[in-house]
Amino acid sequence: MLTLGILGLGEGRSTMSAALNSSKVKLKTICDLNEDLCKHRSKEFQFFNYTTKYEDMLNDPEIDSIAIYTPDKWHAEHIKQALLANKHVVCTKPLIDDLSKAKELLDLQNKTGKKLFVGQSSRFFEPAKRQRKDFEAGLLGELITVESHYHADHRWFLEKSWALESSFKWLYGGLSHPVDFIRWYLPDIEEVMGYGMISSNGKAAGLKNEDTMHFIFRATDGRIARVSGAYTGPIQPAQRDSGMSVIVRGTEGASQADYHELRYAITDKTGEEKIVQWGDKTIKYYFRFEGQSHHAGEYQNYLEYFADSITNNTTAYPDLKEGIGTIALLQAMDRSLKTGAPVKVSEILKTHGLS
Ligand SMILES: NC(=O)c1ccc[n+]([C@@H]2O[C@H](COP(=O)([O-])OP(=O)(O)OC[C@H]3O[C@@H](n4cnc5c(N)ncnc54)[C@H](O)[C@@H]3O)[C@@H](O)[C@H]2O)c1
Repeated sequence: MLTLGILGLGEGRSTMSAALNSSKVKLKTICDLNEDLCKHRSKEFQFFNYTTKYEDMLNDPEIDSIAIYTPDKWHAEHIKQALLANKHVVCTKPLIDDLSKAKELLDLQNKTGKKLFVGQSSRFFEPAKRQRKDFEAGLLGELITVESHYHADHRWFLEKSWALESSFKWLYGGLSHPVDFIRWYLPDIEEVMGYGMISSNGKAAGLKNEDTMHFIFRATDGRIARVSGAYTGPIQPAQRDSGMSVIVRGTEGASQADYHELRYAITDKTGEEKIVQWGDKTIKYYFRFEGQSHHAGEYQNYLEYFADSITNNTTAYPDLKEGIGTIALLQAMDRSLKTGAPVKVSEILKTHGLS
């Protein structure tokens, strides 16, 4: 059983729903600097134990785990404070937005022995879980390549003040999902190159960093992969093209997991073709509020996975080390956008005293 405090109540709303619906999680306190938001969430979920001070949760001995949903640039600091207060941590993606504090966090985790789990929601979505299970069961043979994209009409997001700061990058906010998929199947990416641009919609809104990007990757064993993201324009109908997809191609089969429409398709090693679409009940489990732009179902899946890892003393993945590996890759991608040249992940890790 996790006894949880939630920090940040924008996206933390879905975590509240997840925690309150799970028998493996006890929600103790919610926290946001914005008291009106605390009151709003309290009323929405009839859960009235809120605070505007993070320290209140850190100093509460009953809380064993903190779940962090503050803006990206605060994650490193909020993780550090949680570890120093001897709490386990769930941190939403992107884990951190640069590697300057990565070594400090690793050292701190070693010292405290506390667990850190990256809330990489996309891995915990039904089609992605099914795809992974089939892959691990050998239905595709040996992996050849992985392709993933995350395209979304996130123009609404540009109204958040921090979306227009120079510290905000879709590279981290958006591409962390498909890049995590790539590393799930090909952990040892050695080199990446890509192009990016700010679209005219992004420019008009005052965005400071790229909203449209395409990248290719090479792993240490020579296998290749690709990822793309576009965030400030309309997307195709979900029936035709899911906003987020992963295609895994193997020596004996191929599969595709689609985030939208909860769709999964596979040609397995026997040649059998199957398309699975989950029903209304599963859709309601994942999308509990309006629309499909929130993640309560995935968060419940990952909170329960994390709770089990604490009960059984196993590691929940992505852990801190894997999460930092993904940030290193994102940072290599960022450098490639700036230089127009391929970048080795090892160079990035070396710069930050990591190996
Ligand atoms: N699929 C996913 O996993 C997913 C989806 C959406 C957002 N996110 C992540 O969730 C995080 C938050 O995004 P959001 O859209 O909710 O942003 P948001 O700006 O709407 O909410 C962040 C909240 O954090 C609060 N906050 C900031 N500093 C605080 C502090 N020191 N103490 C207490 N509260 C503090 C703010 O008041 C705000 O309400 C981002 O890192 C984002 O990438 C993840």
